[in-house]
Amino acid sequence: MGQPPLGHRHPIFARVYGALAPLTDGGGGARARRELLQGLRGSVVELGCGSGLNFRHYPSEVARVTALEPEPHLRRLAHRAARRTGVPVEVRDGRAERLPFPDGSQDAVVSALVLCSVDDLAGSLGEVRRVLRPGGEFRFLEHVRGQGVGGAFEDLLDPLWSRIAGGCHLNRESELAVERVGLRVEELRELGTRVLGIPLPGPRMLLGRARAWP
Ligand SMILES: C[S@@+](CC[C@H](N)C(=O)[O-])C[C@H]1O[C@@H](n2cnc3c(N)ncnc32)[C@H](O)[C@@H]1O
Repeated sequence: MGQPPLGHRHPIFARVYGALAPLTDGGGGARARRELLQGLRGSVVELGCGSGLNFRHYPSEVARVTALEPEPHLRRLAHRAARRTGVPVEVRDGRAERLPFPDGSQDAVVSALVLCSVDDLAGSLGEVRRVLRPGGEFRFLEHVRGQGVGGAFEDLLDPLWSRIAGGCHLNRESELAVERVGLRVEELRELGTRVLGIPLPGPRMLLGRARAWP
């Protein structure tokens, strides 16, 4: 048996993330999640759902969500969160690199803060494209490599950061990788972090929509 992928070997990170991530809801996190999911309908797959913070923001037009989470502690929290939602959510063990769905079977795939952590970015996005029906949407909320000095700083910090933060990489250019697999990016918006109207330095956070075309 080979080593399990890096993102799944971080029980301490999973516990810290599970406890602290809900605190970001107040700082604009909940609003970003709502925006990420608004207008979705039909069958949706969520990659790396963590503790299930997105679940309560799915619009009622969504028929069902299949949420994949490889990390056992976060998956347990997600099972709990799934019981408190308006739309049917099924939580399953699973990884973005191998989506357990037939080709062209999904109306949408959602990823929030996951592309930074998958073991194989191009492979995962290839899977997203494969399972989307023609015209289906990929919605993502992801931090990506910054520009200029910010990006250089992230390059420097990344080897240490990825070890302590559950395999999360600070300097992935995930938005470019989305286009490289043939998904057409139709909207890409940078979310700034502000406190009392003052912009704060931090990771470059993108909210994006891309579409699969045959
Ligand atoms: C920073 S957390 C984000 C969790 C959640 N999406 C959220 O918005 O709060 C990153 C998540 O990606 C998951 N993950 C890591 N590698 C993965 C992979 N290869 N496939 C799917 N999920 C993965 C982790 O277990 C973790 O739940």
